[in-house]
Amino acid sequence: MENIIELHNLTKVYNDVTTVKLEKITVKSGEIYGFLGPNGAGKTTIMKMILSLIEPTTGKILVNGRDVKKNKDYLSQVGSMIEEPSYYPNLTGYENLLVFQKMIGFSEGNIWPTLELVGLTEEKNRKKLVRDYSLGMKQRLALAFALVKEPKILLLDEPTNGLDPSGIHEIRELIVRLAKVKGLTVFISSHILTEIEHIADRVGIINKGHLVYEGKIESIKSSNWIEIGGNFYQNNIGGF
Ligand SMILES: Nc1ncnc2c1ncn2[C@@H]1O[C@H](COP(=O)(O)OP(=O)(O)O)[C@@H](O)[C@H]1O
Ligand SMILES: [Mg+2]
Repeated sequence: MENIIELHNLTKVYNDVTTVKLEKITVKSGEIYGFLGPNGAGKTTIMKMILSLIEPTTGKILVNGRDVKKNKDYLSQVGSMIEEPSYYPNLTGYENLLVFQKMIGFSEGNIWPTLELVGLTEEKNRKKLVRDYSLGMKQRLALAFALVKEPKILLLDEPTNGLDPSGIHEIRELIVRLAKVKGLTVFISSHILTEIEHIADRVGIINKGHLVYEGKIESIKSSNWIEIGGNFYQNNIGGF
């Protein structure tokens, strides 16, 4: 299978502190790659580097086989949901996407179908201003922002953070459905194993900026990883 994202010997140093030190990560075409690690492990930093929002200190990132440092065209293929998006509270979801459309320039005709896809087109929601959205609706709108330009790759940084269990379930099902329907490659992070285990084809686990495991989830279960309350720990090195 083709590699869509490759990270090679990637490091990020802040004020003499190495926060990321990854030898290699590969994300394959069409897969859902679960990117796991405790808070502070370096997940957001790595995703920002993939998006060229911050520069790696050393190392190389390839998207579709091309070095992202040399060419930023790949960004048109990548939809992302990273940190809290800020919305115009006094506009509807549609109007927020329309403002985005004016900035980015995708087809306006994408907006409504995308809102349908994420489940924000029910009669009662159409005219609702974003300031009256529930947290789950805001997450759905964030997904709509990531999807509306019809990307091939989705980078989702802890997309279910802050949601209640039913909200988590809904967003998770939505991501799986989107990946299938649209044939997307999805790179999704979480600090909670159980949020990812049922949807990811493969997982990468990082701890303190290092990759400590990459492969099928089943292998974790039969190895020396232990799970406590959805977080998981390695038995022999004192865990996360
Ligand atoms: N701009 C920054 N300056 C200094 N340290 C940072 C900065 N951004 C992140 N870090 C540090 O890098 C480490 C990884 O953070 P982060 O990527 O946010 O982890 P995660 O997303 O896995 O919770 C943390 O120790 C964090 O404090
Ligand atoms: Mg983070």
